[in-house]
Amino acid sequence: MIYLDHAATTFPHPMVSDFLKNQSPWGVYSFNPHSKNSSSENVWSEIQKCKSNFFKYFHWPLGELTMTASATLSNNLFVKLAPLEKTVWYFSGDHPSLVKSLEARAKLGHFTLKSLPLKKISKSNEWTIAVDWNAFLKGIMDDGPESLGGLCLSTVNNSSGLILYNQHTEKIIRELRKLGAKFVVHLDMSQSFLKDPMNEYDFSLIDSCVISSHKCGGPRNFSLLYTQSALTKKMLNEGEFIHGGHQQVLYSGTLDGVTAMAFFNFYQHGEKEFALQRHSIMLWREKLRKFSNAINAQYQKSHNANLFLCSFDDEDSSPYIFTFIFLGLPSDMLLRLLEKEKILISSTSACNAKKGKIDQTFTNLLIPAVYHPHVLRVSFGLNTVEDDIDQFILAFERIIKSEKFLIDQQIGRNFGKNTHHRL
Ligand SMILES: Cc1ncc(COP(=O)(O)O)c(C=O)c1O
Repeated sequence: MIYLDHAATTFPHPMVSDFLKNQSPWGVYSFNPHSKNSSSENVWSEIQKCKSNFFKYFHWPLGELTMTASATLSNNLFVKLAPLEKTVWYFSGDHPSLVKSLEARAKLGHFTLKSLPLKKISKSNEWTIAVDWNAFLKGIMDDGPESLGGLCLSTVNNSSGLILYNQHTEKIIRELRKLGAKFVVHLDMSQSFLKDPMNEYDFSLIDSCVISSHKCGGPRNFSLLYTQSALTKKMLNEGEFIHGGHQQVLYSGTLDGVTAMAFFNFYQHGEKEFALQRHSIMLWREKLRKFSNAINAQYQKSHNANLFLCSFDDEDSSPYIFTFIFLGLPSDMLLRLLEKEKILISSTSACNAKKGKIDQTFTNLLIPAVYHPHVLRVSFGLNTVEDDIDQFILAFERIIKSEKFLIDQQIGRNFGKNTHHRL
């Protein structure tokens, strides 16, 4: 089976699975880290050591690393406890764990939400989308920087791979803080942690961030919520009575020492492997683009129409996510045909395989409704190899040949000539 859906979840790295195998059932980290016996105390102090190494390794300002079972829970915890007020900017097409919880809290009247503006950039036979940084800054300046209370975004949007947080955002944050604006910056790094060079982020600007372990090769059921010291204090006050509060931390509960140590033993190794792979990933993206351009060129000749629309530019996208639109067949059907070829990709946002024609996330990503049933996502992980991409392309070519009748019908009926003029 060729697995190209690593943005949804990826396999634990062999280093992680070996560690876990060697630990069960009574390995040194299996003791309850909160109990009062020397074995438990050892686990507790090992975890504390790992936490401080983690801060040092990434040069993060000191704060708290709260361990939860998922990035969803980490986002929810932040939204529940953070001192959010005034206007909070988010991106309405982001992962539901951030979007839905922010929208629910905004409904209580704690703050007003505004969504990051996107812009379309048309090209000859494709269309691209990028964040409109000028409109974003103008939006904030129009309201007055003092009315800004928060910026809560994913670094990389999971459905599209679109980069939502980069050097432009950092520049804007610096400018606004210079103007005296006081606001909380929360980043969901689930799709970028270890995949992006971590030293390119200025963590002195970030108050809080979320890391998902199962998307980068770490153990399952593990996520970290980083909160800088002052924010942690405020959140602790807010959450005095939640989750029992018996451990005086943001999320009380018995820590799973084994899973935590599996993650802490892995991340530095994982970061190096991702760095080594980055160049190959860019070549694989190029292969996918060449393939779609070649098919388009053939189809232009025979039908005066395109079969593929590649909607997101490399410059504005995570290298690890390649989202495209295949007009020839509905994505549900294509997924089944690819599965018969033993290839797994995704048709929609990672953790939310909704069926149906209009997808709110795609609408928020400015994808016209007519294309929603045709959106596909290929995503790479540490164990992706070039042969996976070659096999995917060959399988796609076979499907285009074998389903020619259906594809021609679909294009003729729904998309006709000069597809890109109908956006
Ligand atoms: C950006 C983002 N945030 C949060 C999540 C939720 O992750 P988890 O499965 O760890 O709850 C996902 C899952 O795809 C995601 O892509």
